[in-house]
This record gives sequence, C-alpha cells and structure tokens, in this order.
Amino acid sequence: MKKAEALISSVLFEKINTIAPDAVTKADMESMFTVPPDAEMGDLAFACFKLSKVLRKAPQMIAQSLCGDFSCDAVERCEAVAGYINFYISDSFRTDVILGDILSRGEEYGKIDIGKGKTMVIDYSSPNIAKPFHIGHLGTTAIGNSIKRIYSFCGYDCIGINHLGDWGTQFGRLIVAYKKWGSKEAVEQLGVKELARIYKDFYVEAEKDPSLNDMAKAEFTKIEQGDKEALELWHWFKDISLNEFMKTYNRLGISFESYNGESFYNDKMDRVVNELTQKGLLKESDGAMLVDLEEYGMAPCLILKNDGSTLYATRDISAAIYRKENYNFDKCIYVTDAGQSLHFAQFFKVIGLMGYDWNDKLVHVPYGKISINGEKLATRTGNVVLLEELFDDASKRALAIIEQKNPDLENKEYIAEKVGIGAVIFNQLSSGRIKDINFVWEEALSFEGNTGPYVQYTYARTCSVLSKTECEDKKLPDGLVLNEDEKALISILSKFPVKVEQAHDDYEPSYISRYLLDVCAAYNRFYHNCPILKEEGDVKALRVALTKAANTVIGNGLWLIGLEKTPRI
Ligand code: ARG
Repeated sequence: MKKAEALISSVLFEKINTIAPDAVTKADMESMFTVPPDAEMGDLAFACFKLSKVLRKAPQMIAQSLCGDFSCDAVERCEAVAGYINFYISDSFRTDVILGDILSRGEEYGKIDIGKGKTMVIDYSSPNIAKPFHIGHLGTTAIGNSIKRIYSFCGYDCIGINHLGDWGTQFGRLIVAYKKWGSKEAVEQLGVKELARIYKDFYVEAEKDPSLNDMAKAEFTKIEQGDKEALELWHWFKDISLNEFMKTYNRLGISFESYNGESFYNDKMDRVVNELTQKGLLKESDGAMLVDLEEYGMAPCLILKNDGSTLYATRDISAAIYRKENYNFDKCIYVTDAGQSLHFAQFFKVIGLMGYDWNDKLVHVPYGKISINGEKLATRTGNVVLLEELFDDASKRALAIIEQKNPDLENKEYIAEKVGIGAVIFNQLSSGRIKDINFVWEEALSFEGNTGPYVQYTYARTCSVLSKTECEDKKLPDGLVLNEDEKALISILSKFPVKVEQAHDDYEPSYISRYLLDVCAAYNRFYHNCPILKEEGDVKALRVALTKAANTVIGNGLWLIGLEKTPRI
C-alpha cells in the first residue's frame, strides 16, 4: 500500500498547506498513516490528532474537512471517524497499479535499491575445522545465508566469507592425538567423526598425563613455523573437514566468495601487533599482551598469550583490516550466537582505538543459543545433533509422506530432500533470531501447520493452477469488482517490498518467513472460496493473475530465506 499512501499523502499535503501553510512536512505526514485494525475500517487511515494543535481545531473536524471533496485515483471513498480519515482503496488501483506492478516485475518484485553501489561483507557459518558440523552452526548458516540474500535483493554487492576456525592450539592437540591413537585408514574412512573421536581421547588422556598439553603446544608451534610434516597433517585435517562441510553447503545451496579462515591471517598479525605497540595500546599483564578496555566497561582484549602466540581476537582484528583494505566494504557483518557478543564489542573497540573510524561499519548480528531437549549443547558429552544426520532424517520423513500422499510424483527423492531441508531451515528462521531455541527433533521436522513445507506446498499449488491455464501478460480488463478474499490477497502481496526493507534494517529473516505464512494463508483462503479454472472471462483472468502474483511473491520470499521453490510436491 506504499504507493497508495504516497498518492494520498501528496493530495492531503496540498490540502493541509492551503489551509495553513507550513503546518506539516512530508516527513511528519508519514508518521500519521496507519493501517486500520480491520478491513471494514478501510485500507489506510490518517490520524489528525497531531494537526489539531497547529490548526486549532478538533481532530474530528479536521478529518471531516479534509475528507470533504477528497479526490485521488487510488481512493474509492473516505470517511472521517473519531479523528481519523479512513481510506478505501479503489479496485482499479488494486488491479492496475498493485497487481500490475507485481506481474510486470516478476522476480524483480520486492527489490529495492538501497544498497546500490555498496559492498557488504558477511562473515557467517564459519565452523571449526576437525569438529563435527552440528546444530550449533545451523543458526549462523541459515540466518547468514538469508541475510546475504536479503542484502543482495536490496542491491548490495555481497561477499560471503567463511571464516573457518582452522588455527590454534587445538590443531596441536589433534596432531598429538593422531600420532598416539589415530590411524590413516580410520581417518580416511570415517572423516571428521574419527577426528572428533581422537580429539576427545586427548582430553581424557591429558587429565592423567598433563605433559600431553605441552606436546600439543609444541606441535602447534611447529605448524606456525611451517614445519613440513606438521603442516601436511594440518592441511589434511582441513581438507577432510572442508569436504564434509561442502556436502552440507551443497545440500543447502550455499556457497561463499571466500574460505579464508583464521589461518589465512597467520602472516598478517605481526603488522597488527606492531601497530598496536606503536600506538601505545598494548599493556603487559603476566607476560601476556592486552588492550585495556576498562574505560569502556569491558574486560581487556587479549592480543598475545604469555608464550607469544596469537588469539582469536588478534586474528579477527587482522581480518577486519584485511577486509576493509581488500573489499572496501560499506558494512561488514558477523553472524554468530549471542555468546560471542563481548568478543565482537571488544575487538570493534580496539579497531576504533587504533584510529580506524570505519569501525562503526562493523556489525555483530547475534542469535539465540540453541539447546537440545532443554539441555545445553555439548560436543564433549555427545549432546549434539549433526546437521548431516538431521537433514538425512528430514529428507527421509518427507519421502515417506510423499510416498503416502503422492506416490506417482516424478523426482520424489529430490523433492523430498528439498522439502525436508525446508522444514529444518524454516523452523530455524521462523522466530526472531535473538530468541533462544530449544531444539526438539519432532518440532523441527514437523510438516504440519506453520512450516516450510506448508509454504512450499502453497507455492506448488500456485504452480499447479498456472500449469493448467495461460496467464496472459496483457493488461487486466477495466472495471473489475473485487471480492473480500481477492482484496485481502492483493493487500498482503503489496506489503512485500516493505517487509524486505524491514528485514534488511533489522537483519531479521523471520520477518520474511512470517510474512510468507500470511501470504499463504491469504492465498489458500482465496483458493478455497473462489473458483479459478471453472470461471471464465474477466473473472478467470483476474484470478489467474492473482495466482501468478502470489506465485511470484512466495517464490521470491522462499529464495530470500534460502528454501527451494518446489513446483510440485
Ligand atoms: N569459528 C567460530 C565458532 O565456531 C565462529 C567465527 C565467527 N567469525 C569471526 N570472524 N569471528 O564459534
């Protein structure tokens, strides 16, 4: 309804200014529009309360006088009620302008150009090498992918970076564990599972024999110094992990512009340490080096350990500077769980203290923690759900349902995979991202009610209608009269661009997923109440066009949240 609002607003603006010049600005006007709580009261309302002071009249009087001879193409009629002007949008405006716009823009509908000419770096997913890819990474992977799509839909040039956790003492531990308890065959055969198993053994053994910890440190130092054997092992572990991660990314249709993980910054950190030293920001504490952030109400940011080795934050500071120099981003966002908020606040501050005024372009986008059946997720105790297994199960369940309901469907396995994954991803994206999630297997895989498969199913329904008839591209006939279901459907479809913008502003994919549920509800109501293919002439043309418009919006929305468009289920 933005278009209708703009037209109405300019007519009102003229009228108000003839009564009292400079009484309002266009920006003031924007805040006076609301959407009435139910359709009986019109499609848009304009509140006259703020005008009452400047015009020295009661709001209802103002509403009445503005309503008087109101004339605008978008409006069929208006009424003054309790200080509001309620506007009823004309059917011709709905069909010619709103519906016409959706149909003519198609896949472009909903795109806005606020990001045109701007670059956005998005650091997301970023799992740790040699550790299982588990449900703890689902949030960053699904939310990050969706935010990336939303931003590119808004015109940004997006660079997705997988900042792999591929550096640190844990690789020393892994080498020790491998040499002591591992075998080439087992790692080759079992991959990350075997690496995770021997890594766990390390902790058990190190409890009994702490000298293992020193050995691990020594092994990591070897990697850092470029020792051939150590580096080869490290590379091998990394390749094995990445290969497995890639399988999951492929299933999700996700790829990254860069896989530069923490190790990439190994030779770039000296510069940061020198710069911090030169700028007088480093302080010694028990042999370690840190940046004191007490003044800003934060714990210090650790830069070097007492043995001179670098930390997670050191690599992140390096990475941010590297990204700014290489991509010249307008925004660089990091999607991780809220548990890392302090880390981001600390290193953003350090970058600011180094004199880089672009530190305000670094944004941490946190999401809630995930627990499993009410218990904390823990790789060490095994309270963990592997993404691969979750997706396998989801896809198996979807296939079982298809076998039951639509056994002759072509390409069953493929569709079951997309619907199963759709259920899991949608479940992750359907509540506000900051909310903690308690993962319950049955709920995440539910296909009933407000779920991904429901949206995919409605999409398939629109495709099925369209496959049985022609949607002619020509202009819809004049003088169409719309019923309530048709009006409601057009109203909801018209909100898509605003939802995209809000999702962009708040980094919030759930705005899109919840909106899709509303669109599906409106389309399904229309579908049940209004025959489409049985109709003829203008009515049929209109209903087919509405189906096409719903198909466009649901399709574009599914893409934004990273779900596959499924023409048939
Ligand atoms: N590897 C980290 C983890 O699994 C996430 C990295 C996020 N990105 C970053 N630049 N710190 O917790």
